[in-house]
Formats: sequence, C-alpha cells, structure tokens
Amino acid sequence: MEKLIINGGKPLRGSVSISGAKNSAVALIPAALLADGPVVIENLPHIQDVEIYVELLQRMGASVLFEDDWMEIDSSAMKPVVMPNGHVKKLRASYYLWGALLAKFGEANVGLPGGCDLGPRPVDLHIKGFQALGARVENMNGVMTLRANRLRGARIYLDLISVGATINIMLAAARAEGVTVIENAAREPEIVDVATLLNNMGANIKGAGTDVIRIQGVERLRGCRHTIIPDRIEAGTYMIAAAATRGDVILENVIPKHLEPISAKLREIGVVIEDGDDNIRVIGQEKYQAVDVKTNPYPGFPTDLQQPMTTLLTQVKGSSIITDNIYGSRFRHVDELRRMGASIKVEGRSAVIEGGRTLNGAKVVSSDLRAGAALVIAGLVSQGVTEVEGLEHIDRGYENLVGKLRNLGADVYREVLKPTKRP
Ligand code: UD1
Repeated sequence: MEKLIINGGKPLRGSVSISGAKNSAVALIPAALLADGPVVIENLPHIQDVEIYVELLQRMGASVLFEDDWMEIDSSAMKPVVMPNGHVKKLRASYYLWGALLAKFGEANVGLPGGCDLGPRPVDLHIKGFQALGARVENMNGVMTLRANRLRGARIYLDLISVGATINIMLAAARAEGVTVIENAAREPEIVDVATLLNNMGANIKGAGTDVIRIQGVERLRGCRHTIIPDRIEAGTYMIAAAATRGDVILENVIPKHLEPISAKLREIGVVIEDGDDNIRVIGQEKYQAVDVKTNPYPGFPTDLQQPMTTLLTQVKGSSIITDNIYGSRFRHVDELRRMGASIKVEGRSAVIEGGRTLNGAKVVSSDLRAGAALVIAGLVSQGVTEVEGLEHIDRGYENLVGKLRNLGADVYREVLKPTKRP
C-alpha cells in the first residue's frame, strides 16, 4: 500500500506530455483480437487498466508484447476461456471482451465488470445490442454467457447514449453478416479511434463520431499498426490543476478540438487558454468567476472531469453548481473535500459549491479514479500537507502522475505505507 504526500501551495509551471487515451486503450486492445494477424498499438499508456488487459489476454492464450509505449497483440492461438471473475472484476472495460469474443469465436463467458463505483452502472444496452445481432445472452450468476452461430446485422436504437454499448456493438457487428446501423450512438473521440483501428484492419465502418454509425460486416480482419489518440481526460485534469493552482502549463501531444468542452468552461471561469496545433497553454488567473457546469455525453462537459472541476470551483469565489447528468451519485469525493475545508452541499445529482475558501491539507482517501484526481488537485492548492490514500484507483488511469506533477514543480511523492503491527 502506498499514499501520496503533497505539500500544497505551489503553482504548476512548465510543460507536460499527455499520454494515450485510457478509454481508447481498453477498447482497442480487445478490438485487436478480431484480426487474424498481429496488431501493433502505439502511444499506449502504462496504467493498471492496460496491465490488467494484458493479463486477461495472456490467460486466453494470446501473445502480447508490451514494450515502451507500444504493444503487439497476436490472437491466433487464443481460446475463448471462461473468465468468471478475477481480473475481469477489476476493470469496467472488461465488458468489451463480450463483443470481441462473440465476434471472434461466436461465444463468450465473461463475468460482469468491476471498475469505479459511480453508483449503478447497468449493461442492458450492451445486451439488447448483442441480442439484436442474433446472440443468446444469459446472466449465469454474474457470468455473462453469450452465444451465436452467426451474427446478423441489425438496426439498433440506443435508448440512452452509451460509450460502452456503442463500441461493444461495433465490435460484434464488424464481422457480422450484413449491415448494422447504430442510432443514437455515442460520439466520443474514443469511438472514432476504435472505428479507425477496425477500418485499418479491413472493417467497413462509417459515421463514427456522429450519432448514426453504419457497419457493413466483413468476413475477415487483418493485422495493422495504429496510434492511440491523446487522453482528453488526462489533459483536462492537468488543465484544471493548472487553473486551480494559478499556474501556467503547456500540454503537449493533445488534440485541442477534443478539449473544447473543457476549454470553453475554463474560459468562462476566467482562465486564459491558448490553442496550438497539438498543444494547449493554460494560464491561471487570480480572479475567477463562479459558473454552473452540467455533464453530458460528448461534446458536452465530460462526467470524468466533474470531480476535478469541483475542486477547482472550491477556489472560485461565489456559488457554483455542478450537475452530473451521466452518473447522478458520483459525489464520493465531496466528503473528503469538506474535510479539507470546502463548503459543498450535494442536492440530488448536483453539488452546490460555495467557493473561495482556503483548503487545508488533510488525510483523505480516494474512492475512485477521478475522485483521486480531484483530491490530488485539492492537495496541490491546499495549505500544508495532504496525504491521499487509495492510490490503486489513481494508478488505473494516470500514467506517471507523480513524475509529471513533479516536473511541473509540485512537491509530491509516494510513500510506502507500513503495515500496522498488532500489539
Ligand atoms: C465510459 C467511460 C467512462 C465515462 C463514461 C461516460 C470507458 C471505459 N469508460 O463508461 O470513463 O465516465 O463512458 O462518459 O470508456 N447506461 C445504461 N445502460 C447501459 C449502459 C449505460 O443505463 O447498458 C447508462 C450509464 O449508467 C450512464 C450512461 O448510460 O448513466 C452512460 O454510460 P456509458 O457511456 O455506457 O459509460 P461507460 O461506457 O461504462
């Protein structure tokens, strides 16, 4: 067990290189299984979620080489092993194995996923999609069993906009017979990334990035080489941290267009943002204005930055309201922020923040990945020392967080927690 020790009060300054997108990586790796030959994925982040996926693939007999920031996946010797729990429970995105294995073998036996506890996270839309393609789907005591002799294209309308269901249906439909049309599809850049990989493998997918995706199934997919898009959520986290600490940070290796929902809100607060071609500069200001924020599917403000944004709003004088329309109970960071002196009231799916108070360092525990990011930013702006526990959540999604923050001038380090001795 480890914890983070943060001596707060220093503005972040300098430049930081943004890693490949976590939410792409965890979809591209299972997508690569559909190819008959080796697939190389570049710009892959070294994060726990990726390491867990590697172990899952190896358990199924795939050959995986993970060097520096690239990975080669060869699934030719792979078998559809039954995976009821273990690693699949550590990872939300293990649900992509349903679509990928169904497409590859016509069967999948994989436990329901784990991942961050953000309140209820149903998978009914994934199941409806697989069923529409002709699969039989059963939940056998928490293990999803999917079978199909032949998958056939279908028109699928998603009742809710879901990133996971959109990608899972794309995976299952890529080698199905005939045409699949996903309506009310999610439009996140990570969906475009997965479609790009599949198309490079020989798939025929059109419309990714819009709310109607058309997939003409093909018989075979081949190996290829693909570079992951930059992580807009990691980038957004550093943007918010730069703004909150009144720093001046250049983020390298980003797609500024993907960051527009975040830049727009930060500009409304009063942060100065300069877009470059593949970089963005965030210049914090002394005076900010309170704002209201609502999370929505892309291109709305991302729910994954709601928690870090809450921390920033504690540093903005006046009353701000942040409403999470995606995960209405994603507020487990709030109690911890209150322990540091923040004034926040949760009302339904909204947090009302009375900002402008000084935060004081405290011992806090991260309950999930982005709560962890929110608490780290709180530590960076606080007076005194903050200790953040629950690093296993943060490690799931942030590559080299401590190294990157230290490069920006933060006083932060990891400390190994000694097991407490019994008397
Ligand atoms: C993905 C992201 C996660 C992000 C979320 C919303 C990955 C690995 N994770 O999660 O970081 O917070 O998008 O942007 O990419 N829903 C249903 N039934 C379903 C599926 C979803 O009701 O079958 C609901 C969810 O409870 C949620 C909303 O739809 O309220 C959106 O969820 P979804 O986009 O599916 O989230 P994930 O793909 O799990």
